[in-house]
Amino acid sequence: MIEKPEKEKIVLSALSGREQTKVPFWLMRQAGRYLPEYREIRAKAGDFLRMVYDPELAAEVTLQPLRRFGMDAAIIFSDILVIPQAMGCELRFAEGEGPILSPVRGKLDIEKLSYEPKTLEPVYEALSVTCEKMRGEGFTTQTLIGFSGGPWTLACYMIQGRSVPGFPAVAALMEADPHGFDVLIEKLTAAVIAHLTSQIEAGAEVVQIFESWAGLIPVDLFEKVAINPVRKITSALKNSYPCVPVIGFPRGCGKNYENYAKGSSVDAVGLDETVTRGHGKRIQSLKPVQGNLDPGALLEGGDRLKVETTGILEAFAGKGFVFNLGHGVIKETPPAHVMDLARMIQEFKV
Ligand code: CP3
Repeated sequence: MIEKPEKEKIVLSALSGREQTKVPFWLMRQAGRYLPEYREIRAKAGDFLRMVYDPELAAEVTLQPLRRFGMDAAIIFSDILVIPQAMGCELRFAEGEGPILSPVRGKLDIEKLSYEPKTLEPVYEALSVTCEKMRGEGFTTQTLIGFSGGPWTLACYMIQGRSVPGFPAVAALMEADPHGFDVLIEKLTAAVIAHLTSQIEAGAEVVQIFESWAGLIPVDLFEKVAINPVRKITSALKNSYPCVPVIGFPRGCGKNYENYAKGSSVDAVGLDETVTRGHGKRIQSLKPVQGNLDPGALLEGGDRLKVETTGILEAFAGKGFVFNLGHGVIKETPPAHVMDLARMIQEFKV
């Protein structure tokens, strides 16, 4: 008989929908510029991508927030845009401008894309190093999360080439070459499956699919572009790794949240901060949920942080709930506010 570990991993039990006596938490972008210890390593490395592709540095930065705040999960320090890069797109991060990619604008560009997983080996190595360090530092009840962008969100960055409100080049390409767009989504779906599989093989115990721009998908295409590819990804992963939970985060998809929860086969759904408590409870009746504190409340701190955090805990805690933000930590957030939040969650009695 397999013995139950003395202390269970509370993120895994929450994602399986079991009753909970404690609420697990982690924060999207928990490793990042709001932490002085991150800025120190970032300044030495010089370049963000250099950190991503250096397994030791990436592992180090991944663990910084756990050491300081005691989160229940570490998310590997990487970026969703490593997939476009591994498919042949040039990528750089310009200071103050965000990511810049060589844009995919037509049939020929799409045909040329070919996923070369070899360039991503340092990311998998970073996961192995992080696993080892977690064991060494006694983080045995914490969970290591791997991630990928969703095919739609990756296509948005690849086609537009950078963050532009509304990503207008995407709608233009879908109009001009609908078949080419479908091919791009298919290629990305295959790459996401490969990338997430390799992360699981390297030690990821949960994976999250960030569909950060789900809110931009035309309503009549939501099923085709956001739900079906994610179902394909999830079922491929489940074939090989049935016990690894998949969290889907279709940010900003509003009324489509229930359709996504039902149709995409993910194990749990990440809620953004615009999802109301009532709506969130309806989604939680279908699947475990994760979320959804407004990152602005964490930035502000004090009473607003207290009131909003308590409201979320009281609404969702009990069964199938992981506390998180509705989107990433804002870089001006004082670390002391994150400490206040950690204490509130850890002291909360379900
Ligand atoms: O702590 C973690 O959450 C893990 C690491 C992580 C990063 N990016 C590190 C990062 C994760 C999970 C991501 C995901 C990601 N990357 C998304 C999906 C989530 C979301 O925010 O919607 C997206 C859209 C990207 C693409 C991306 N990467 C953008 C638009 C930017 C620039 C914006 C910014 O904050 O500067 C990045 C850069 C980036 N990715 C940083 C970090 C810590 C900042 C880089 C720096 O140190 O200068």
